Amino acid sequence: MNKRATSFRFPSVFLCMLWVFAPTGLAWSADPARVEAKCAYCHGKAGASTEPDVPIIGGYSVEFLANNLKAYRDQERACPDTKYRNGPNKGKTTNMCEVAHGFTDSEIRQIAVHFSKKKFVRARQTTDPALVAKGAEIHELYCEKCHSDGGASAEDDAGMMAGQWMPYLRQSFDEFVTGKRPIPKKMKRKLDEINAGDMEALVHFYGSAD
Ligand code: HEC
Ligand code: HEC
Repeated sequence: MNKRATSFRFPSVFLCMLWVFAPTGLAWSADPARVEAKCAYCHGKAGASTEPDVPIIGGYSVEFLANNLKAYRDQERACPDTKYRNGPNKGKTTNMCEVAHGFTDSEIRQIAVHFSKKKFVRARQTTDPALVAKGAEIHELYCEKCHSDGGASAEDDAGMMAGQWMPYLRQSFDEFVTGKRPIPKKMKRKLDEINAGDMEALVHFYGSAD
């Protein structure tokens, strides 16, 4: 009798472990492409958005993607309403908080790793050369320290500005200035030192990268 009891204990321990680890791990690692397909309804193929009000997200750093997806999930970052551009819900209103709702930390990590391996495909946009030149100077003085390579380096974990959609950048500035989107204190201090005209020049500078 005793012998039988022990021989049953081990398998059930293993079953318990599977039960604990499976739900977060397996669903995702089974098919990350399926989640990417859902994101693609708005963010385009491999995160290379062709919609000027939807950011390009392929090629961002894991840290940045994970932090921002958590910020949306936990409603710490503003979630402006937007619409599905494609797919079965095309035209239906939603927002990034709804999209990220219910993701576990581990799922978010996997999504972040997935998109970080994609290429950041820069948007082609029309810019004003005088504003681009002015923006380059402002960037160098106030922003390059944390957004190196003219805002083109993912390694800073501070997002990607070079080649990002200009309408999205304008909206981001607005959210930072009005306090709807969290930013590091040191960046807030720099933004406080520049005016709306300087920000528009920065938008042209970043938008000019191609
Ligand atoms: C219905 C359209 C839509 C869908 C679906 C969608 N997004 Fe978004 N996403 C947006 C819009 C619009 C923004 C910009 C919102 C804002 O201003 O905060 C955004 C912002 C983001 C950002 C912030 C980027 C930055 O530069 O700060 C990340 C990261 C992101 N989305 C990831 C995803 C992932 C991953 C998925 C799929 C799981 C997804 N999104 C699905 C529309 C969408
Ligand atoms: C002290 C470091 C620091 C300085 C200085 C700084 N930033 Fe940032 N910035 C960050 C970090 C960190 C983030 C990422 C925050 C997050 O995860 O949402 C960020 C995010 C951003 C984003 C959002 C990027 C995206 O892809 O969504 C923009 C736009 C931006 N910064 C613009 C600027 C501009 C313009 C300046 C100069 C006036 C500046 N920053 C100065 C650290 C800095």
